[in-house]
Amino acid sequence: PAPGWSVGADTVVVGSGIAGLSTALAHTRHRPGGRVVLVTKELLSHGSTAYAQGGIAAAMDPGDRPVAHMVDTHLAGAGLCDPLAVHVLATEGPEALRRLIALGAEFDRSSTGDLALTREGGHRADRIAHAGGDATGAEIQRALVEAVRAEERIETIEHAVALDVLRDPATQAVGGVTLHVMGEGERDGVGAVHAPAVVLASGGLGQVFASTTNPPVSTGDGLALAARAGARLRDLEFVQFHPTVLWLGPDARGRQPLVSEALRGEGAHLVDAGGRGIMDGVHELADLAPRDVVARTIARVMAEQGTDHVYLETRHFGRRTWERRFPTILASCREHGIDPLEQPLPVAPAAHYASGGVEVDVDGRTSVPGLWAVGEVSRTGVHGANRLASNSLLEGLVQAERSAVRLAAERPSTAADPATLEPAATALPPVDPALVPRLRSLMSQHAGVLRTGEGLTALTRELGTLAAHGAPTPGTSSWEAANLLTVARLVASAALSRTESRGSHQRADHPDPRPGLRSTAVIVRQEGDTP
Ligand code: SIN
Repeated sequence: PAPGWSVGADTVVVGSGIAGLSTALAHTRHRPGGRVVLVTKELLSHGSTAYAQGGIAAAMDPGDRPVAHMVDTHLAGAGLCDPLAVHVLATEGPEALRRLIALGAEFDRSSTGDLALTREGGHRADRIAHAGGDATGAEIQRALVEAVRAEERIETIEHAVALDVLRDPATQAVGGVTLHVMGEGERDGVGAVHAPAVVLASGGLGQVFASTTNPPVSTGDGLALAARAGARLRDLEFVQFHPTVLWLGPDARGRQPLVSEALRGEGAHLVDAGGRGIMDGVHELADLAPRDVVARTIARVMAEQGTDHVYLETRHFGRRTWERRFPTILASCREHGIDPLEQPLPVAPAAHYASGGVEVDVDGRTSVPGLWAVGEVSRTGVHGANRLASNSLLEGLVQAERSAVRLAAERPSTAADPATLEPAATALPPVDPALVPRLRSLMSQHAGVLRTGEGLTALTRELGTLAAHGAPTPGTSSWEAANLLTVARLVASAALSRTESRGSHQRADHPDPRPGLRSTAVIVRQEGDTP
């Protein structure tokens, strides 16, 4: 659809989690006089960041070192991490966390006033900073939203679905993005933000699965948009499954309550129905093994024992630890009639984090000039085949700063007349939202924790038949359905082509890692070309 209204800016940021909000703020800091438009699909305060529990990893303890953080990140990433990206994250992480604290985010402190640091899966040191016990993301989101609202050089547009990037047909340079805005007064309907730099910070794709820790907005919009723009994507098969969400029954769908790894950091144990330790003898770090190891061990135990959940034993914590350290999880257990002081928690794995995404360099540049990506939608290579716990909030902060510094130095300006700009590739066609439940079940069945070539082939075929369906009215849910379908096909195709087991990609028909198999990139030039 043709844009009915437009607004100009130096930079447009798409998304309002930790990466988007800190990118907008960093741009105003590094480019005095620069104007940022920040667009978000629902409200500024929504998104995955606010649900983060465990915390944010950085070598802040005097006994810890960035190099130790690098080693743990590489080990969790199962041989596919990019060394430069890991170096940047671990060495720039502590300063990024200090900036966030200076901005007003309040982290938990010990009795001596130092940051209270805990441990999560794959970490061999206490380096996870947390806030409000287990409400770290909510505190970070609060502080960043307040700072963005107070900054008059940032204009925010809520209820805005990003459709496609605009390009100058003469130079192919990106010149902005089209939006469908719903219920925002004069900016209602399809419009455009004209800007020489578009920064995608649109988060993950967990909603492509039937059960996920991600909120409803995580529908892979930025990834699908970048695919339509011809940007290079990488490592899409590496969808990380969090080992423990609260199991709410066989029919539970959509966002499930997260049960943080920080519980295991404080001594919780995974057990089967008979009370036997699941992680004993599986890995040297036992319950604190990297997340992929824990998730697949749980999936195997469930398959062997014919059950759909296991248990997390925390009764030895006692009331005080529960109330002080994990008030959010305690409240969500109680909301569902579960008392962790009296019974072990029923838990199961659920889709959690896209370790792959739109390929970027360490400054957030994609392969399309003028298009940038930060946070979960991007892929620097820092997570390899399996992200280390609590590295993602940190990556959002580090990338925000680097992209802002780079953009301020380059000072791109719009050369093209906005009237000449055209949507890149083919414009997004809406898809019938009624297809989405089937799509999610297929993805969970065939592209979950344990995969097979046969299942992935069936998945690819079924997704192809869904693609041919209906021509619905344009609106948030039909744009989301279109993006979910694109993303599902991309993940399925990447998973089918990786004929090995590595990190969070486990193939029963190819159970071992193949040492020579590196990371692979894909470019989707036309909507019809999606695999
Ligand atoms: C958790 O608290 O277990 C989640 C942390 C993360 O995904 O990094």
